[in-house]
Amino acid sequence: MRRLFLTFSCSVLSCVAHAHDVPAEKPPAVTFDSRISPVVSEAGMVVAQDAIAAEVGRDILAQGGNAVDAAVATGFALAVTHPQAGNLGGGGFMMVSLYDENGDGDVIAIDFREMAPASATRDMFLGEDGEVDRDVSWYSHQSAGVPGTVMGLLDALETYGTMDRKEVMAPAIRLADNGFPVSYSLSASFLEYKDTLANDPSSMDYFFKPDGELYVVGDVLKQKHLAGTLRRISSKGRVGFYGGKTADLIVAEMADGGGLITHNDLENYETVIREPVSGNYRGYEVYSMPPPSSGGIHIVQMLGVLEGYDLRSDGHNSAAYLHKLIEVMRRAYADRSKHLGDPDFYDVPVKELTGEAYAKKLREDIDLKKASRSSDIAPATHFADEQPATTHYSVMDKWGNAVSVTYTLNFSYGSGHSVDGAGFLLNNEMDDFSSKPGVPNYYGLIGAEANAIEPRKRPLSSMSPTIVRNKDGLNVLVTGSIGGSTIITQTLQVILNVVEFDMNVQAAVQAPRMHHQWLPDLVFVEPGINIDTVRILESMGHSISREDDGAVTRNINGRANSIAWDGLYFYGAADGRDPKGAAKGN
Ligand code: DON
Repeated sequence: MRRLFLTFSCSVLSCVAHAHDVPAEKPPAVTFDSRISPVVSEAGMVVAQDAIAAEVGRDILAQGGNAVDAAVATGFALAVTHPQAGNLGGGGFMMVSLYDENGDGDVIAIDFREMAPASATRDMFLGEDGEVDRDVSWYSHQSAGVPGTVMGLLDALETYGTMDRKEVMAPAIRLADNGFPVSYSLSASFLEYKDTLANDPSSMDYFFKPDGELYVVGDVLKQKHLAGTLRRISSKGRVGFYGGKTADLIVAEMADGGGLITHNDLENYETVIREPVSGNYRGYEVYSMPPPSSGGIHIVQMLGVLEGYDLRSDGHNSAAYLHKLIEVMRRAYADRSKHLGDPDFYDVPVKELTGEAYAKKLREDIDLKKASRSSDIAPATHFADEQPATTHYSVMDKWGNAVSVTYTLNFSYGSGHSVDGAGFLLNNEMDDFSSKPGVPNYYGLIGAEANAIEPRKRPLSSMSPTIVRNKDGLNVLVTGSIGGSTIITQTLQVILNVVEFDMNVQAAVQAPRMHHQWLPDLVFVEPGINIDTVRILESMGHSISREDDGAVTRNINGRANSIAWDGLYFYGAADGRDPKGAAKGN
């Protein structure tokens, strides 16, 4: 019996009616005996990496908005209060599950990933020596793809929301205009990234005091230029960003810094509605982001292989369990390097990779007693220090509709360059392309033809916003994470923790996680995974990433802000890996 979902057994419709019509008969929320409990609410929930932005979304729900209205309001608010990853100048993905009056409704995927500018070329990041020039692919204006966030949020609102653009954008404009109190976490982040931001006078102007001093806890950060841009979007819609003054400022910034984005690129940006990748795992239907994300394919692929094992008897985070995860991850990421890219440019074999026959083949290849070795293709020596640089948030409304959003600038604060006069940072997402076959990107990920740079192509992503439905069609889990290449494996583990190990959603999010990505052939484990288990894995032949002093201290740096729903109550879990996150319910 699954604890989370045992408070009802009914159709979607009757449960949804139950949830708000008959409180007198309503059983109490599930109380957890775990040491970690989620936040419980009855009329909707927003879980985000920043408490102020989560409150913005929650208030929109309280005003009668649906999950999409709240998600759009939260997205714009995060661009103000969580500037390291919340953004106007980046891109991302949104999964939407809305029920109609019959309790039906498909899950759809909105792709607002950045696009390569029309003048981008395959070798644009190669220096004269033929090697990838990291300074250019990470920190230059050329590293910016054409931003998709504003188009994505506005398209989502128009197509699936119920509220007016001005209403949902008002809180973000207010926060930018009047300012908000800087948290410890934000102040620490400004300090950590001061060197990156210091390369750009407007970034310094936007995120540091006029004398260059740091904003400390409780200082009020106002962003007038950003407020101006938000106001233009609020009054003019897409044209307020992709045309007019904002577009002029972006193009002027490109001219100044040697970037590629033109007026034409901005005018031609488009979001794409895509069919999610989905797969069934133990009776639950898992919907996740299709290409140009690699997340959905590999989550479904890995679940398909794992379903053939009795993981519950292995036990959560036991060596037997982790060995299977590692072997499955190793194979999935090997496939990623070859087969994944923008589906509008490259024929991604979605069905083959996620099919049962291939899952069986992979399972047959796994030795349950011994670690296999990653391929002998030159392994990446570089595995980036993860940056909490993307942001994931989950929203559910009182009707049970769900929205799962991951969006990003790529690095924390993107390339560090802001659009002067417009108040927002530029992404450095072009580094997610494979700049040279076989050469790892920042996240140690290798790629080739499928993910080569081409004009108007979208770089391959790992962002994996996910919605899980039970057999009655209820949206029982909304999840996803940040963490570059580790997003896929972290999201996988949250799903397994809930579905396979019956954890409440907060316990599922807090549980220590691990990561393997084929190359480098190393297992990254978070503190909290038992050191005896780590030693057993080593005795099976796995190489565990350890610090110089031998300690296993790697923090994989996820922020898997998630919501579970049992048809009656919403259970919100902000990932405790960032104290700034919050679950806010009505
Ligand atoms: O799209 C991707 O896969 C990366 N640009 C995401 C970067 C990221 O998650 C950074 N860290 N949290």
